[in-house]
Amino acid sequence: MIPESFIQELLARTDIVEIIDRVVPLKKAGANYAACCPFHKEKSPSFTVSPAKQFYHCFGCGAHGTAIGFLMEHQGLSFPDAIEELARHCGLTVPQEDNDRAFRKPAIGSEEGPSLLDVMLKAHKYYRDELKKSPRAIEYLKGRGLTGEIAARFGIGYAPEGWQNLRSVFPEYDNTSFQALIKDGLVIENEQKRRYDRFRDRIMFPILDQKGQVIAFGGRILDQGEPKYLNSPETPLFEKGREVFGLPQARETCRQTDTVIVVEGYMDVVALAQHGIGNAVATLGTATTTTHIRKLLRMVDRVVFCFDGDAAGRKAAWRALENSLEALAEQKVLAFAFLPPEHDPDSYVRDLGKEAFQAAIDRATPLSEFLLQTLTSHVDLSSAEGRAKLLAEAKPLLQKIPTPMLRLQIVKLLADKTGLQPAEVERGCELQRQSIPKQEVPARAPRQAPSILRRLLRVLVQAPDLAQTISPALLRSLPANDPLSISVRRILPQLSDAPQPSELLERLRGSEDAHLVAEIFASFLSEPLEKDALDAELEGIVAQMERDQLDTELATLQLAAQRGALSAAEKTRYAELLQRLQQLGRTARRR
Ligand code: UTP
Ligand code: MN
Repeated sequence: MIPESFIQELLARTDIVEIIDRVVPLKKAGANYAACCPFHKEKSPSFTVSPAKQFYHCFGCGAHGTAIGFLMEHQGLSFPDAIEELARHCGLTVPQEDNDRAFRKPAIGSEEGPSLLDVMLKAHKYYRDELKKSPRAIEYLKGRGLTGEIAARFGIGYAPEGWQNLRSVFPEYDNTSFQALIKDGLVIENEQKRRYDRFRDRIMFPILDQKGQVIAFGGRILDQGEPKYLNSPETPLFEKGREVFGLPQARETCRQTDTVIVVEGYMDVVALAQHGIGNAVATLGTATTTTHIRKLLRMVDRVVFCFDGDAAGRKAAWRALENSLEALAEQKVLAFAFLPPEHDPDSYVRDLGKEAFQAAIDRATPLSEFLLQTLTSHVDLSSAEGRAKLLAEAKPLLQKIPTPMLRLQIVKLLADKTGLQPAEVERGCELQRQSIPKQEVPARAPRQAPSILRRLLRVLVQAPDLAQTISPALLRSLPANDPLSISVRRILPQLSDAPQPSELLERLRGSEDAHLVAEIFASFLSEPLEKDALDAELEGIVAQMERDQLDTELATLQLAAQRGALSAAEKTRYAELLQRLQQLGRTARRR
C-alpha cells in the first residue's frame, strides 16, 4: 500500500510533459503540447498534454490521465510499477508498507460505510485464511500440482461449506441497510429476504483489476458438481468483457517477452505459472472481446491464443479471431496455438513440460493463416460457387481489418486461392473505398452548453480553494436522485485538500466519478478559464443555482396560488421569492 501523501509528492515533483516527451515527442501548441495520439491511429495531432494541469487527453479517442496513468496505459505498467518508475525518475524511494505487491488496498472508502472494494478485500482475506485451515482444500491444490508459493501469488483461497460463513467477518451481514456484500455479488438475497453466501465449498480465484484490487472471484468446486466454476456476476466493480484473470501477476513477464498468452481457464494460468510460464492470462468464461485485445495490445506486441485442442477450443479461437480484427494495429502480431485435442494448457504443461509448451507457443499459427485455413476448409475451391462463397465469407472479416498492410497480404492470399487479381478481390469485398476504417474514434457528442453543475465542477476543479465557499445548504438542495448531483456532492469534499488537479484524478482513480472529472479536465484543455475569471464565473454559477432552486419553489407556490390554496405564510414566502429572484437576476446573467 503506497501512502497517498507519497503519491501527492511524486505528482508534485513530476513533469508529465517530460515523461511523455521521452516516448512520444511533443510539440508546443499554445499553452499545451500536442502530438499524434499514441493510443489510436491518426494523421493530425489530437493528443494534448497540459503542463498546468499535469494531465493528458486525446480529443480523438478519449484517452486521458495523469503521468501515472500514462505509464500504465502506454508502457503497460501496473499502478505500483508506474509509481516506482516515476519515483526513480525523481530520485525518490517508494515507502513500502507491505510487500505484497500484486494485491493493493482500495484507495477510496466513503462515508456510507465500507466501499465495494473494501468489502471485496475483506472477503478475500477471509477466503485466504480459510484455505490455510482446510486440509481438504490444500490437498486438492497439491493434487493439481500447485505449491503454496503459487497459491499465494494468485491469492487463491477457499470458501468453506455452509450458507452464511461471511457473517463471521461481516457482523452486519443481515442488516438491510448493508448492501455492499450483495452489490459485490458475494451474497445472494432470496425472495424471503434471507441472505446466503454465493460461494460455498469452492476454491476461490480472485480476479484483480489493473491496480491489483480484488473486483470479483471465480470459484471451483472441489469434486464433481455443477457448475464446475461459479463466477461473480457483473457488478459495479466487474465487467467480464473487460477483465482478464492473472494480469497483475503476468505483467512483468509480458513486458520481458513482449508476449501475452491468452488461455481459457483459471487453472491454465496458474499451472503455467507453476511451470515457469508467467505471461498467461485467462478470459473469464466468456469469449475474448475486442476490449480484451485492445487492452492486451497496449501492453505487448504479440498476443498468442492458446486454446484447448478440442472442437470447442477451435470455436473459441475463431470467435477470438473475429473479435480481434478491429483491434489489429501495424507491428502487432496475433497468433493461435492449438494443443492436441486431449489437452488443455494445464494438462499439457504438466505432462510435457515447459519447453514443449513454449515450443507450441513459438510455432503458433499467425492470424492471417488461421483465417485462410478456416475459411478454405469448408468450401470447394474447384468450383466457381465455392470460390465465390470464400470471398463472401472473407468480406465482412476483411472489412474489419484496419491495418492496410496486413489486409493486403490476406487479399493476395485470397486472390491466389480464387484465381483473381488482388484488385478484383478488393473490389469484390468493397475494400477500396473506405480503405482505412477509423480506429475507435468515438463520435463526439454534439456540443451543447454544459449544465450548471458541470460548470460548477469546471471552476472548482481548477480552483479547489473556492470549494469551501459553496454553502452546504445549496448542495443539499440538489436533487437526491440525479447522478450528476450525487457526483458533485461526492467530489466537492475531496477538493479542499487536493493541491493539484492531477492529484484529484489519482485519488478518484477507479471510482465512479473518475470519468466525469476527466471529462471536466478535457473541457478546460480546449477552453481554459482565465484565473481572474474564475471568481466571477463561480459567483454567476452559484447565483444561477440559487435561482433555479427558487424558481422551482416559486413554481410550486404558483400552482397552489392558482387553486387559491396559499396560506398566509406561503404568501409571504412568495413575495420573498420574487424579491430575491429580482436581486439575483442581476448577477446570474453575468458570466
Ligand atoms: P474448462 O471447463 O475448460 O475448465 O473451463 P478448466 O479450466 O480446464 O478447469 P479445470 O482444469 O477442470 O479446473 C474453462 C474456463 O471456462 C469457465 C472458467 O473460467 C474456466 O476456467 N467456466 C467453465 C465457467 O465459467 N463455468 C463452468 O462451469 C465451466
Ligand atoms: Mn483443465
